[in-house]
Amino acid sequence: MTICMRPAILHRPKSEIANRVLQVDRSHLCAEKLALEPFGPLGAARYDVDASRMPRRYKCAHKIQNELVINALRKSSAPKPTVLDLGCGTANDGFQILSKTTSAIYFGLDYSSHMIKRAEDKLARHGLKKRSLFLERDFRFVDACGLWAGFKKANLARQVSVVISALALHHYELAEKLHVYTVAYDLLQKGGLFVLTDLFSNSISSVADLALLKESLDVRISIKRLIGSKVTVSSNNTTLSVSHYTDENHPHILSDEIELLLKRGFENVDVVYRHGQLGVICAAK
Ligand SMILES: C[S@@+](CC[C@H](N)C(=O)[O-])C[C@H]1O[C@@H](n2cnc3c(N)ncnc32)[C@H](O)[C@@H]1O
Repeated sequence: MTICMRPAILHRPKSEIANRVLQVDRSHLCAEKLALEPFGPLGAARYDVDASRMPRRYKCAHKIQNELVINALRKSSAPKPTVLDLGCGTANDGFQILSKTTSAIYFGLDYSSHMIKRAEDKLARHGLKKRSLFLERDFRFVDACGLWAGFKKANLARQVSVVISALALHHYELAEKLHVYTVAYDLLQKGGLFVLTDLFSNSISSVADLALLKESLDVRISIKRLIGSKVTVSSNNTTLSVSHYTDENHPHILSDEIELLLKRGFENVDVVYRHGQLGVICAAK
């Protein structure tokens, strides 16, 4: 296993990392909007309700992802097979994975303390605290060594069986993604699996437009369902928004992502689910 060292980033103080994360100019937003923003205190509090109202295909993608993960963990020869979730949010995937395995360990990494707190509470409520560990980090500024140092409490072998990342990378540039894919690759054991669930664009522009339209229409429906549901919600206090898809998301062309994974050294890169912009990619080390 190659573990790359990037000491300058590794040793950057946490407050400085946090500042870099927050450097986007948000001065025009009021405090309430900022708190609701993904993934501030209100945004984190709303996350599970909003996620539960997403179109069925999102649940389908998570289900496929988690079945692949559970299967790989069950087949692993490691006594405590480990899965690392980059951008774990409130650990909905972690909960599903741990509920269906007996000895697996779940590592969740996220830069939002609010999301991590909810993730920890959720797994603790379900008696899964001992099999989970969380780390508050920006995945753009960590490397494999830094991660192991952060997770040192777990005292495990320095390799993971599976790395996942769901809906956390589509805001970033390909160069930033290459860094994250490198971290995943370096941490994985030989034969380990990387499962990436995210939004991707298409190389044919008319196909890309249709996929974006699908997302915009579906998120409109999700917002309507939230407003019409028993859950008390107005269009102002959900994190779901059409503009998130049209203006803020930055999905890259799926074939470019595959090329990037191959460039990083992954093998047998395969698309196991695709609908609208949503896709699940599987790659082996
Ligand atoms: C849409 S949520 C998805 C959460 C979870 N993976 C799921 O599918 O339910 C995106 C998550 O990625 C996290 N995230 C985004 N950028 C990140 C970064 N650079 N480093 C660490 N976490 C990040 C956010 O804080 C948020 O919790």
